[in-house]
Amino acid sequence: MKEKPWAGRFSEKTDTSVEAFTSSIQVDKRLYVHDIEGSSAHARMLAKAGIITDDDAAALIQGLGEIKREIERGKFVFDDKLEDIHMHVESALTQKLPKIAAKLHTARSRNDQVAVDVRLYLKEQIQLIIGHLKSFRRVIVKLAKANLEVIMPGYTHLQRAQPVLLSHHLMAYYEMFSRDAERFKDGLKRVDVNPLGSAALAGTTYPIEREFTTEQLHFARMSGNSIDAVSDRDFIMEFLAAASICMVHFSRMSEELILWSSSEFAFIELPDAFATGSSIMPQKKNPDVPELIRGKTGRVFGNLMALLTIMKALPLAYNRDMQEDKEPLFDTVDTLKACLEISIKMLPKITVKAERMAQAAQGGFLNATDLADYLVTKGLPFRDAHGCAGKAVGYALGCGKELHELSLEEMRTFSNLIGEDVFPFLTLEKMIERRKSHGGTAGRNVAAAVKAAEKALSETES
Ligand code: ARG
Repeated sequence: MKEKPWAGRFSEKTDTSVEAFTSSIQVDKRLYVHDIEGSSAHARMLAKAGIITDDDAAALIQGLGEIKREIERGKFVFDDKLEDIHMHVESALTQKLPKIAAKLHTARSRNDQVAVDVRLYLKEQIQLIIGHLKSFRRVIVKLAKANLEVIMPGYTHLQRAQPVLLSHHLMAYYEMFSRDAERFKDGLKRVDVNPLGSAALAGTTYPIEREFTTEQLHFARMSGNSIDAVSDRDFIMEFLAAASICMVHFSRMSEELILWSSSEFAFIELPDAFATGSSIMPQKKNPDVPELIRGKTGRVFGNLMALLTIMKALPLAYNRDMQEDKEPLFDTVDTLKACLEISIKMLPKITVKAERMAQAAQGGFLNATDLADYLVTKGLPFRDAHGCAGKAVGYALGCGKELHELSLEEMRTFSNLIGEDVFPFLTLEKMIERRKSHGGTAGRNVAAAVKAAEKALSETES
């Protein structure tokens, strides 16, 4: 069949430019598995409800299986004239079964068909992404565990603030990517809904059994309103929003990897196999992988914006505009998976320069807060202590020293509450150890967080 299934009321052939313009086959052909799965379930349901015979259903399902194999073997010809994957499969089925293929579209429209296909596809992809996120979180936890005691400067405003453990810093990313996994999992509830049987928009006159296709396609539930079911793309927007947030996390992490691998920081070194050189500057080793992850974040945000804009003023129910949902969706799935896959490989191979990190934590008055805390232990109210410590910093800056490099006499000019015990109080190790409030950077806390994460990741549910 090369005639379009909807050609009946037309007296003129479609202009070839219109065929090219309206075709989505190059994009949506990847939905073939889900289209065939949906059609097979629909055929089974039609037979069960007595709308077609069992023999017809069996022939349809067999024909659909053959088409799937032909596509997989690369034997199938895709042609713009047939618009989309649904019409390609239908047309191929008609060639195989001229008498009965036409019965498959009873009680169904491409409007509920495409919604089924995308939901089946996205359910599968979200599960893969959650799996990838789990592997990535494992890699982060492993790196934190291997560097449990490494001290680095913690930053606010990109200015040295207080010492923290590198493991604590890394576990911050574990938290972010765990929230992403939760967000995807929660969104899955709203993807896992069967729209099949909504037909074009109003439902159908046939005695269909929607519970049956819901069960056959392993959907958790079925949609409640046929108009909404064919118009709803919230589940894609939600996925794109979750993906955008996940990319924010990726981008922030990438930014740090880029900064940290610069000569200025020199906190880490990226593996040679994951860096690139320059065609003019022989010395260069560029962090292209994290840079591209940071860059690809822009595409994913763009995809979210594109779909929000496509949907924002559409009247109910289906409009062809909605065909434009697939490129942003597929591109986001591909981009996110690619970022996850490469990061899972790269992160375990970075070299941590622990000495350099600790050395950086020694400079820049990271112990100023602790000098104030010390004075509080001696009875001074925090605000006054803060003032004293601030003056000490100003003085030390003037003589090019760090606080712990001042003599006791110098220290005592700021407060006579200061004694010898100030020096052991201001060491990096002690400063870390004292931050044992829940969620703080103390070694024991971080070790417990690592353990809890390992446990969570060993459970099938996370
Ligand atoms: N290719 C279309 C899409 O992706 C399928 C639905 C077409 N429905 C229609 N009435 N033209 O949105």
